Amino acid sequence: MSLQIIVGAQWGDEGKGRIVDWFASQAQIVARYNGGDNAGHTVTVGEKVFKLHLIPSGIIHPHTVAVMGNGMVINPRSLLDEMQALESAGVEISPRRLRISYCAHLITPAHCALDAALEAARGKDNIGTTGRGIGPAYTDKAARTNLRVADLLAPDLPERVRQNIETANRSLLSLGAPALDVVQIAAAFTDYARQLAPFIADTALELHTALQSGQHLLAEGAQGSLLDIDHGTYPFVTSSSTLAPGTLVGLGLGLTAAHGAVITGVCKAFQTRVGSGPFPTEVFEQTAERLRGTGENPWDEFGTTTGRPRRVGWLDGVLLRYAVRLNGITELVLTKLDVLSGLKTVSICEAYRREDKTLTELVFGPSHLDAYQPVFTSLPGWNADLGAIRRWRDLPEAACAYIRAVERVAGAPVSMVSVGPEREQMIVVEA
Ligand code: GDP
Ligand code: IMO
Ligand code: MG
Repeated sequence: MSLQIIVGAQWGDEGKGRIVDWFASQAQIVARYNGGDNAGHTVTVGEKVFKLHLIPSGIIHPHTVAVMGNGMVINPRSLLDEMQALESAGVEISPRRLRISYCAHLITPAHCALDAALEAARGKDNIGTTGRGIGPAYTDKAARTNLRVADLLAPDLPERVRQNIETANRSLLSLGAPALDVVQIAAAFTDYARQLAPFIADTALELHTALQSGQHLLAEGAQGSLLDIDHGTYPFVTSSSTLAPGTLVGLGLGLTAAHGAVITGVCKAFQTRVGSGPFPTEVFEQTAERLRGTGENPWDEFGTTTGRPRRVGWLDGVLLRYAVRLNGITELVLTKLDVLSGLKTVSICEAYRREDKTLTELVFGPSHLDAYQPVFTSLPGWNADLGAIRRWRDLPEAACAYIRAVERVAGAPVSMVSVGPEREQMIVVEA
């Protein structure tokens, strides 16, 4: 049995997609266990740049089976668009290659409208959601009123959709938003059902069988540890369990499946965040422009899903250590090290100060971060362009020292670093 979980160690956009793509060459199955099309995972293969929102990034490798697990919330319109886009880019999409859990939940246009209306009602205290209906869909799931993928197979699907949208319409009207066209949505879902039916499966059973027969399963996390509904910077979080343990419930695997699992935490060499919420190591003005980039490079820090400029800052070692603990991370992959080239000094937050106390471990989690001042250590920078380097021994000494500092504050080894978005721009870290 072999399971590897790829999880974001920060606030998302760490480069999970490209790391999943890297490991997918050795996996038979790649499965998403949480979230929906709020995710934006980029995989660069030569001239082609794939931006995946729902389908696991591992699908780019032709030998894999991609699974969308029960922990996901799936907008069928977005899914069909993504299937179409991948097919046009030459990726085979067939029921043999793509399996959708019958008990994943559906996102309807009403969830998206509710997301927008709720954000508007929050005013300046808004969460800064992606507007993809994620919160309202998980709310409906917890209220036990939502439509699931299995409903697409039901003979009375139009009636089920009608009832669901009529209830949502009452909520929309109470928020001052217009009601949606029930008949039109029911007709659209009937069409989605026809197209998606061949892909619907009992994925939990299929994954169990695959693990039993010795196949290698790669679980692809979406969002990041600090956006986890329970352990993130609540309420500025997403609505799902993003952490590695969420894999088990989100794919329908038993605890024993995790025995001996490799938990790979993907961590950017600095810190970014999209949307509202605390960010102790955030930087502004020139330093921010330097870390974010201007948008001329495809990897500059602008949201993959919404195009919003990402907030940027120095690597937060206290939060990284927290993520290592909550996920049980066994190895870190440090991405975008190349972006730090050319800086005179590189900072890393090793502790927080609160009143006259210095803290290296978060107590009561990360919800009260505004009360903390980061304590930075400054390390010498390096000038070399790292993009063409492939061997550990060719990295500048200062870059190696930075990686060692990350390992020390995180309390976990860095197994690889990436120095560009391309598949081969990876360096294995040596002892
Ligand atoms: P994800 O959501 O975690 O999959 O990350 P995103 O795809 O949203 O954002 C990561 C961005 O950084 C994408 O544009 C990637 O192509 C890019 N990227 C990933 N690794 C590297 C790297 O090592 N160097 C550079 N320059 N870009 C990278
Ligand atoms: P990937 O998988 C970065 C953020 C939103 C917002 C909060 C809640 O690409 O790393 P939601 O729409 O989920 O209700 O928004 O979560 N967020 C992400 N930030 N990367 C993501 O996904 C994100 N998915 C959601 O910006 O702050
Ligand atoms: Mg992303």
